[in-house]
Amino acid sequence: ELGRIPHPPYRLPLFGDVLGASPRTPVQDSLAYGRRLGPIFRRRVFRREFVFVWGARLAADLADEKRFAKHVGLGVANLRPVVGDALFTAYNHEPNWQLAHDVLAPGFSREAMEAYHPMMLDVADRLTGHWDRAAASGDGVDVPGDMTKLTLETIARTGFGHDFGSFERSRPHPFVTAMVGTLSYAQRLNTVPSPGLLWRAARRNEADIAYLDRTVDELVRARRAGPGGDGDLLDRMLETAHPETGERLSARNVRRQVITFLVAGHETTSGALSFALHYLSRHPAVAARARAEVDRVWGDAPVPGYDQVAKLRYVRRVLDESLRLWPTAPAFAREARADTVLAGEHPMRRGAWALVLTAMLHRDPQVWGADAEEFDPDRFEAGAVRARAPHTYKPFGTGARACIGRQFALHEATLVLGLLLRRYELLPDPGYRLRVAERLTLMPEGLRLRLERRTPTA
Ligand code: HEM
Repeated sequence: ELGRIPHPPYRLPLFGDVLGASPRTPVQDSLAYGRRLGPIFRRRVFRREFVFVWGARLAADLADEKRFAKHVGLGVANLRPVVGDALFTAYNHEPNWQLAHDVLAPGFSREAMEAYHPMMLDVADRLTGHWDRAAASGDGVDVPGDMTKLTLETIARTGFGHDFGSFERSRPHPFVTAMVGTLSYAQRLNTVPSPGLLWRAARRNEADIAYLDRTVDELVRARRAGPGGDGDLLDRMLETAHPETGERLSARNVRRQVITFLVAGHETTSGALSFALHYLSRHPAVAARARAEVDRVWGDAPVPGYDQVAKLRYVRRVLDESLRLWPTAPAFAREARADTVLAGEHPMRRGAWALVLTAMLHRDPQVWGADAEEFDPDRFEAGAVRARAPHTYKPFGTGARACIGRQFALHEATLVLGLLLRRYELLPDPGYRLRVAERLTLMPEGLRLRLERRTPTA
């Protein structure tokens, strides 16, 4: 029943809705279409037709777990050759989803998070070491590059006891290059009529996947040969049997889970931190308020304790607001479990699916007001949150397949923003205009900041 759903006016035969669109910016193009076409619209790319939803009422209906579930489609499905039935890419019916979910969920409990906290601090220390030198020399820092180093080291260290040595390198670790390669390839596959056209890129992609596999196999071998990891994610993957069925993850599945966690565990958090630092540098009053909170809550303690992180309520709102404007996983897909009617208006057959365009849902003026495009952390004050319609803020997805690493990401990002605010003034480059790079995830491109040390000794 697509007939009632609007689409761009100029459809090219064969190509579809490609006028004015770029394969490099599918999300930002969709935002532009959404603004023109309304809360539900469709785009055709060659012969395939995609339905996008961003109106609050429609998105809330898609969040109904009784009638809808995650759909593994588009970019996510394109990652299946890399990570198969690991958590993020598993089809709902695949038994390895439940098995891995149950085995790994305790790795994100409060106790587990408390154990990660000191390791997160250690990694943050490496970042501030690097940033201190930049502050002293007056050089700017490469924000997304450094946030990627930080978040990759954090997930590698806390989850797998591994050290990629990112801060000791001048170029990204080859693992990151291979990962960016596979993510970009998965995105590009959506923009061509047949994968055969990307044969050259496909060969590269094979090489990237082989590199990811080799890196992870080495990491697992080292763990098996050496001492354990104190119950970290890798220990759970290798040793924990399902509490009820006694089943364990196969070696092949462990490899896929490790790649999944190394990628899902750092790329989006890196973007979230980078956008937050961009906004902080551009909104000095917000930065001052956040910094005052850090000084008040953390006092002179040389390092914050675990419980002192969640107490940074305003810093957390800065992060929430950054993820509102640029949810770094900018969409997720939902499919009908049985024939149904979306929001009482759009009939959907069993298995039919739509993309929830989070990045646009988060800018719906009916929910967020006429100033929805403006950065304002006060939108996340408790009263304002309570007054808002449910299911209108979804940076971590929805339902059973929502992000397992949400608390991990929020703890890490709040901690790091607190540490950076306490230590530096963030000075923007006045000539910089926010540009957003897309590779399934979103990242500010070319963002550099200059730093001034606040506390010379802390
Ligand atoms: C799933 C966003 C951080 C691991 C998801 C989904 C979203 C998301 C939207 C659902 C995707 C879908 O419905 O198709 C984010 C954002 C993050 C973040 C915005 C940071 C700001 C993390 C971290 C980890 C992680 C730190 C691991 C340590 C996963 C995994 C899934 C997932 C394994 C699949 C869960 C399942 O299907 O059972 N994430 N994520 N994510 N995320 Fe995250």
